Amino acid sequence: MSQLAGKKILLGISGSIAAYKAAFLTRLLIKHNAEVQVLMTPSAMSFISPLTLSTLSKRPVYTDVIGAEGWNNHVEIGLWADALVLAPVTANTLSKLASGQSDNMLVASYLSARCPVFIAPAMDLDMWKHPATRRNVALLEGAGNHFLEVGYGELASGLIGEGRMAEPEEILTRLESFFGQQQDLVGKKVLITAGPTFEPIDPVRFIGNRSSGKMGIALAISAARRGAMVRLVLGPTSLTVSHPNIEVVRVQTAREMFNASCEGFENIDLAILAAAVADYRPKDQASEKIKKSGNALQLELVQNPDIAATLGKMKKAGQILVGFALETQNEEAHARAKLERKNLDMIVLNSLRDPGAGFNHDTNRIRILHRENNKTADFELKSKAAVAEDILDSVLHYYLT
Ligand code: CTP
Repeated sequence: MSQLAGKKILLGISGSIAAYKAAFLTRLLIKHNAEVQVLMTPSAMSFISPLTLSTLSKRPVYTDVIGAEGWNNHVEIGLWADALVLAPVTANTLSKLASGQSDNMLVASYLSARCPVFIAPAMDLDMWKHPATRRNVALLEGAGNHFLEVGYGELASGLIGEGRMAEPEEILTRLESFFGQQQDLVGKKVLITAGPTFEPIDPVRFIGNRSSGKMGIALAISAARRGAMVRLVLGPTSLTVSHPNIEVVRVQTAREMFNASCEGFENIDLAILAAAVADYRPKDQASEKIKKSGNALQLELVQNPDIAATLGKMKKAGQILVGFALETQNEEAHARAKLERKNLDMIVLNSLRDPGAGFNHDTNRIRILHRENNKTADFELKSKAAVAEDILDSVLHYYLT
């Protein structure tokens, strides 16, 4: 029997040419014995008729907060659902979701829903790449929403690129795996470090790096969804995250990250060190802004504590330690040396030579190196959310069973 049987799905459709795919999705969900309540934004009705969707879903479609029969209760509808699926989501609706506007039934129900939310964007490639859309996606991902990756291909504009809405079958598979997902990390305490560190030079300048924290945040979200209690020690990044199972400890410097990670480590079952920690910091921090003088400036740097290596020494039997290695050459040898040197159980390698991998991308291609038997496993280029699932699956498979 389908994992979707008896599930209450609220399907929100916004005004995109991809709205026709929502009809196929409705049919698929009904075929899998889900209950489907359709919501449409006013502009969605220009692309597909409510009559089509009400016929397929066997329920009246809600198109506005004030409908022909009076007030449609978005709070009740939001609480009714086991999942809210928004497909397609235009750039305009994405922006409303990110900023918390509630001027139509779809966005009002999003704000009232307590269930997991799945977002399938559909837009032209330049809109998808625009910094405003990137920011909205990051914000909504940080708030724990599940994104369905856009596809690559010909778009309604005739341009070719990223921006096609995920196919109805992909959305169905994602929902099935979500409802079938085991809560396989319940009772586990997980520590994750993420993001860069900033090492102050003076009150206005610092030494930092290009890490966005996306990979570590994706790991924290997926561990939390699988039932773990997560302590996320997060360096300076504009990304945010909120989930009832995630405690976020914000830090700036490597030493702050070191202290926050060591504290309570004895109670941790699994630590994943995804942060890009600065190896060195300026020996002295100037109390006033350093003024320009002469042709050159010398800064004396001193070494920062190594969090991974320290936890590797503190580690007791049963505690699992996972590190990351981002390399530019001789990747596997360097990663394996780090695994040994820091007493890790597993190291996740990504190479800056791989297009689509590394800092600030939404995707990553990884190779996992295990301590045991020099084992390695290669993975495809995937979204960071999917990579996070692969990493946790590996940990569970090899160490936590
Ligand atoms: N790491 C850490 N604390 C540090 C430096 C690194 O916890 N001060 C962790 C990283 O989070 C990562 C792993 O160690 O999981 C490897 O980080 P990397 O910077 O590649 O290692 P380094 O030992 O600094 O090696 P390199 O000489 O390549 O900089």
